[in-house]
Amino acid sequence: MNFQITHPKELKPLPSDESKLSFGKYFTDHMLKIDYLENNWTNGRIEPYGPLSLSPAALVLHYGQEIFEGMKAFRQVNDKDKLSLFRPDKNANRFNLSAERMCMPTIEEEVFVESIKAVIREDKRWIPYSEGTSLYIRPTMIATEEALGVHPSSEYLYYVILCSVGSYFPEGFNPTKIFVEDKFVRAAQGGTGEAKTGGNYAASLLPTKRANSEGYSQVLWLDAQDHSKIEEVGAMNQFFVIDNELYTAPLKGTVLRGVTRESVIQLAQDKGYKVNEEAITISEVIEASKTGALQEAFGAGTAASIAPVGELYYKGTSYIVNKNQVGKITQELYESLIGIQTGKIEDSYGWNIEI
Ligand code: COI
Repeated sequence: MNFQITHPKELKPLPSDESKLSFGKYFTDHMLKIDYLENNWTNGRIEPYGPLSLSPAALVLHYGQEIFEGMKAFRQVNDKDKLSLFRPDKNANRFNLSAERMCMPTIEEEVFVESIKAVIREDKRWIPYSEGTSLYIRPTMIATEEALGVHPSSEYLYYVILCSVGSYFPEGFNPTKIFVEDKFVRAAQGGTGEAKTGGNYAASLLPTKRANSEGYSQVLWLDAQDHSKIEEVGAMNQFFVIDNELYTAPLKGTVLRGVTRESVIQLAQDKGYKVNEEAITISEVIEASKTGALQEAFGAGTAASIAPVGELYYKGTSYIVNKNQVGKITQELYESLIGIQTGKIEDSYGWNIEI
């Protein structure tokens, strides 16, 4: 697909201090759009970044027919003009799985990946240079048909926006405090937990706000059936290290198919660790904490990369993990992942795609 390009009259100033980028605040000069009309993706274009024009009756605004992805592009340490995208094929695949679940049209992997490369090429200057920074990419699809009857939209807008980012959490790569949520749930079997759709995040806001007000930065979600099995942490996949083995929830419909999750599993296995993708209960984790077998815990996701966990609060008791320090395996996996993404370590997996 060819993209018609319109540039803004004036380019925005870049953020003046890369150490203060935080997450999701500094949007670039351009955005990419493709319409879905009469059963076809059409009118691919790159325009100045700005507000969308949408009917107040657009279906997305009423019934939440929306999906998105989170991806990152990096400058390579040995040649800062060399730009790479991390495993975009995986995001294309997940975007289409989300589309199917939300009754939306899929988009060819090649169009998805090319659209992202095309808009990044226009906004290269926004990819920050400092360690711990990157360009965050947010491909999104929304239902735009003007209608109030509950039905799948006949029209959609796919768009890609970009922003310069630093650390997702204000804590940076330091252990976070986690509230184990035993009342609210994120996803149930048969629901939309595996889809990357806005409603899942909307449903997480109240429990997270309550956890924040108690001093915890994220919630750890348990399964909807009996509130015992570990699912995800905040907007990330959760990992535990117990007796030198890694544990993470299996992909059975309620947990996101994290690209970072998959990469971490591969890296850990290649370093010789056993990774168990099987249900583990909060009681087993607490028991492991009591006996000293629980060595480390961390979340894994695109935005936050790897986020160490320093404390779990469950039913009135705090359990400190690894003396509230970043664990050895967490550190090792973080360095390997970031090392590959930024070219510090050779990418023997072929995960980086040149832009
Ligand atoms: C990501 O890790 O990219 C996510 O999508 C999480 C996000 C909702 C900030």
